[in-house]
Amino acid sequence: MTKEYRIAVIPGDGTGPEVVAEGLKVLETVAEKCDIKLNLTYYNLGGEHYKSTGEILPDQVLEELALLDAIYLGAIGHPDVKPGILEKGLLLKLRFHFDQYINLRPVKLYEGVDTPLKNKGPEDIDFVVIRENTEGLYAGAGGFLKRGTPDEVAVQESINTRKGVERCIRYAFEYCRKRNKGKKLTLCGKTNVLTFAFDLWERVFYEVAKEYPDIATDYAHVDATCMWMVKNPEWFDVIVTDNMFGDIITDLAAMIQGGMGIAAGGNINPDGISMFEPIGGSAPKYTGQRMINPIAAICAAQIMLETLGESKAAAMIEKGVMKVLRDDIKDVAAGRMGYRTDEVGDLIAGYIRGE
Ligand code: IPM
Ligand code: MN
Repeated sequence: MTKEYRIAVIPGDGTGPEVVAEGLKVLETVAEKCDIKLNLTYYNLGGEHYKSTGEILPDQVLEELALLDAIYLGAIGHPDVKPGILEKGLLLKLRFHFDQYINLRPVKLYEGVDTPLKNKGPEDIDFVVIRENTEGLYAGAGGFLKRGTPDEVAVQESINTRKGVERCIRYAFEYCRKRNKGKKLTLCGKTNVLTFAFDLWERVFYEVAKEYPDIATDYAHVDATCMWMVKNPEWFDVIVTDNMFGDIITDLAAMIQGGMGIAAGGNINPDGISMFEPIGGSAPKYTGQRMINPIAAICAAQIMLETLGESKAAAMIEKGVMKVLRDDIKDVAAGRMGYRTDEVGDLIAGYIRGE
């Protein structure tokens, strides 16, 4: 029976539309092969739209999105819009509104891709970061006192709720079991300094761990996590961490897997509407040049299919990506691929079609 998915597409700013077009090209190709129907609804949101209309994310759009199955996002960010406006008003608002409490970031070095780590290869770099996505320092708690005066005080608090921490940790244990690779979950925190927030994380971590005797547990401070990620990335299988630490370590992780050109992630509400995005940003200087690598967006589509339960279709995308990275693309960096953005999409789609 044909399965149908209603997907909201937000191409967004900069190179977002270019890479989303390639992601959709590949999605449509596997959909046809796997008897899946994609019902796409486009939303024109982002910096350009904000500049011309003053609108960031209307309530009407949130109501419409609530009726769909997933959101596929290109990139948000515009050089003429003050930092924070689009990030908070669009990206974070979507994450919070739809309670996408997991930020899932697979980190995998594919064959044919260069890593800056000396003597490390695909067998060493294959782990997943699960970042809490709705709380911590991102919750927006805090404020100013006497702003703009010499006595100014700025407070930004990290909010960690028992419920929020537990559901994230539980998801991580489940994910680690389902992944069935290293069967090891590492909590990344800072228990030696953040003795309130990470006391809660640590207690919940070891409490939930009792329900998962098949999963080995480990702990690393966030600074040490950065060190090990460079020195011994093979030690990691699944990492669970809070919002801010997750943000930081996943940029480092993206670099060791080859760069922003192939890094993708999912903002997941396991019981609701999830959103998938390449994590590289809008790259304004490459806009319209057909130079940017669409593989991150194509991998975001893969994570979307996986999350929707379409594992076979997701695996077909990964196979295509692996083939093209191994045999065709010279370098994953923008402008150095040896192919244009759309040609990379064509190569992967063609391979999936069996050409
Ligand atoms: C990310 C980004 C966002 C974040 C920004 C754009 C708000 O860096 O998805 O990692 O900090 O979460
Ligand atoms: Mn980030």
